[in-house]
Amino acid sequence: MKILVTGKNGQLGRSIYKIVNTANGDNLPPNEFIFVGREELDLSNNNSIINYFDNHDKFDVIINCAAYTAVDKAEKEQEFANQVNHLAVKKLASIANKQQARLIHISTDYVFDGESDKPYIETDTTNPINVYGKTKLAGEKALQAVMPMNAIIIRTSWMYSEYGNNFVSTMLRLGKERDELNVVSDQIGSPTYATNLAGAVLEIIKNKEFSEESQATQIYHYSNEGGISWYEFAKEIFKIAKIDCKVNPITTQQYPTPAKRPRHTLINKDKIAETFSLVISDGTESLQHCIKNIKGK
Ligand SMILES: NC(=O)c1ccc[n+]([C@@H]2O[C@H](COP(=O)([O-])OP(=O)(O)OC[C@H]3O[C@@H](n4cnc5c(N)ncnc54)[C@H](OP(=O)(O)O)[C@@H]3O)[C@@H](O)[C@H]2O)c1
Repeated sequence: MKILVTGKNGQLGRSIYKIVNTANGDNLPPNEFIFVGREELDLSNNNSIINYFDNHDKFDVIINCAAYTAVDKAEKEQEFANQVNHLAVKKLASIANKQQARLIHISTDYVFDGESDKPYIETDTTNPINVYGKTKLAGEKALQAVMPMNAIIIRTSWMYSEYGNNFVSTMLRLGKERDELNVVSDQIGSPTYATNLAGAVLEIIKNKEFSEESQATQIYHYSNEGGISWYEFAKEIFKIAKIDCKVNPITTQQYPTPAKRPRHTLINKDKIAETFSLVISDGTESLQHCIKNIKGK
């Protein structure tokens, strides 16, 4: 197999790289993977995408981990976010189609408005409330239109990892610098440890459901088990990391941001777990694992 992974410097791209390159008899061989960042494959420019694929052999699988993920900045950089999250995805889908490659694309819980109190299932009505969510939804729709077969879209949420800036690394830093912190308590979501999602993506590639020909394109939801507010999440991080920092709950209104955030985006993972026989990892255990790795760096 020849597998292309975009977004090699991002949280998910690096997590996939780590698993693939960790000795484990069960893994797909590292030499089947090519990891690319924006230097090699710039998604902000369709000509660069075309050039990249014109100059490389066909791929069997393309995993698109790259995205414009700056949720607040996207409110001002609408066109740029739309190019990377929508038009580039459409182009990747049409190339994957031509190459008869499978495409795994990552999307977000922010395609929902967060007004439902039940965990979202894949067929629930989408209604993004910020530019980032709108561009990611446009990417999903373009992919489905161009590639009705052989692609999968995985919507994930509140991702954290050992890499880059994310809520866990930010809390670990701020918790050491300050005696107390105000954290929003009225947004509830499902945190996702990037290593767990990376493992799930690799399991899916090895699964017959995915590799069998002519599967209709599907959407799946993936996060760790457990729903939590940012406030509770911060408290859990400090408890695990043994950081003495008081956390004060505040409302979204008290912490205005350029992009609106959905209030409640728990996602239901039953479909992905059942289809690919995946065990969804417990949220606390995954957080402990990640913090241990960050501390050990
Ligand atoms: N993080 C979350 O909480 C979260 C939640 C829900 C869904 N998701 C989705 O999960 C996926 C992976 O997220 P992540 O947290 O791993 O993201 P990330 O850490 O922000 O990484 C995204 C990667 O995309 C690359 N990229 C951005 N613009 C590009 C361009 N024009 N051309 C090529 N590459 C470009 C970035 O490259 P540089 O390193 O060069 O900037 C970065 O390495 C994304 O689809 C995201 O929308 C994330």
